Amino acid sequence: MAHAPGTTLCDGRKGRTVKFTVTIDGPAAAGKGTVARAIAAEFGFAHLDTGLLYRAVGRRVLEGVPPETAASTLRHGDVVRDDLRTPEVSRVASEVAALPEVRRALVEFQREFASRDGGAVLDGRDIGTVICPDAEAKFFVTASDAARAHRRWLELTAAGHDVTEAGVIKDIRERDARDASRRDAPMRVATDAMILDTSDLDVNEMSAFALAAVRTRLEDSQQDGGSGAGK
Ligand code: DC
Repeated sequence: MAHAPGTTLCDGRKGRTVKFTVTIDGPAAAGKGTVARAIAAEFGFAHLDTGLLYRAVGRRVLEGVPPETAASTLRHGDVVRDDLRTPEVSRVASEVAALPEVRRALVEFQREFASRDGGAVLDGRDIGTVICPDAEAKFFVTASDAARAHRRWLELTAAGHDVTEAGVIKDIRERDARDASRRDAPMRVATDAMILDTSDLDVNEMSAFALAAVRTRLEDSQQDGGSGAGK
């Protein structure tokens, strides 16, 4: 799949390009995307929502394409479709994400994205544990089931879906259980991840915590003479 253009972050002191990877994992609707976008905007990093890769595979599977074929032939156009955030695609994305051959087909693209010059932030389930175990900054973003269900319900109803909050909570619990219990690359907290519970935080508060932590790591890494991302 073609890479989106990224911003090059230069270390002015030494005139080098900087490689710096931020990973953000966590359950559905915890605020991973919000935090990832804030980091990308603040530091000029490229952002990859890896959930979209699995959603795009799920969407093609719903159209009759075998899962492994869908994953190995994924194109940029597949991940920018506007029909990837439906409850049905969420469920099938989680199901195809449990298939080792699907995950294998998507690893290299994610690692290449993570190691790009100029910095990258990736959010998903296995980014800090499997895709980029050597990332410079790792977060596990979580929130109570009730807070997450309420946020997802607001998003879905705003997009015109006819769903109840009770139905949404059931769906995200089922999906989290499947994502955390699969054998291959289950959702886990990386041992070196910073845990961010967003249950009682608004968008500005959750972003502020993450931005401060990334700034510190970035300054440390530049003082150490830069570092390699996605090693
Ligand atoms: O982040 P999301 O809700 O858009 O992700 C959709 C599904 O994709 C999720 O239920 C699990 C799967 N996924 C995964 O297994 N690994 C990732 N790195 C990202 C998503």
